[in-house]
Amino acid sequence: MKLGEKILFGVVGLLVVITVISFFMLESVRHKSVKPLYPILTHFEFSAEGERGYAIYQKNGCYTCHRAVGSGTSMGVSLDGLGSKHDLNYFVSFLKDPEKTYGAKTMDHGAPPKDAAYVSALPDSDIHAMAVFVSELKADQGSSSSFEPPQGASSFIDAMVQMWTPAGWRTNFTDIRDWMKNNSKEAQDDAKH
Ligand code: HEC
Repeated sequence: MKLGEKILFGVVGLLVVITVISFFMLESVRHKSVKPLYPILTHFEFSAEGERGYAIYQKNGCYTCHRAVGSGTSMGVSLDGLGSKHDLNYFVSFLKDPEKTYGAKTMDHGAPPKDAAYVSALPDSDIHAMAVFVSELKADQGSSSSFEPPQGASSFIDAMVQMWTPAGWRTNFTDIRDWMKNNSKEAQDDAKH
């Protein structure tokens, strides 16, 4: 081997060794740690119908496009936490008549030959059960599928608001964090009276 080749193979070999060692270190930290590496900000508690809806959801292969209960794919929308954004009626009407509910063109749900066209043709009771299932996938405050930003002050969010809000926004609209603060104060005052 020429000197250049030795250096090249040496460097590549070293990188492979470092990668393997780092991988095992990370995995062992992750395995031993009692805290999850990332906070999990969605939760669910299924009613009997929600449970049935989950089984129907699985039987119909919705997970080939969706993520829910922490498993599935990310081809379509993640359904975890969505129950904090919309109510049961919305999900029933979306599953039956997607484009009308969206008020816009959809990609996979809708009339044939769309890939998820079969969904709106399922029996009403199956659609209802699946809608109950999705409506029971809840988001905690601060999750990406929650309207409520993370708890507490965040200099990062302050900086982003300062940087990105167009002129006039901060005077014309209420920051949801201030709104939440005031509303919870009102709720506390109400409780006192
Ligand atoms: C071929 C992929 C695919 C399959 C299969 C599929 N979906 Fe979807 N789903 C999507 C996409 C993409 C969207 C976004 C709307 C659109 O463009 O169709 C969506 C949207 C949704 C929404 C609305 C989300 C929102 O925020 O409004 C729900 C609820 C939903 N799907 C449930 C289901 C259920 C239940 C099934 C199985 C019976 C299913 N989906 C099967 C791709 C799929």
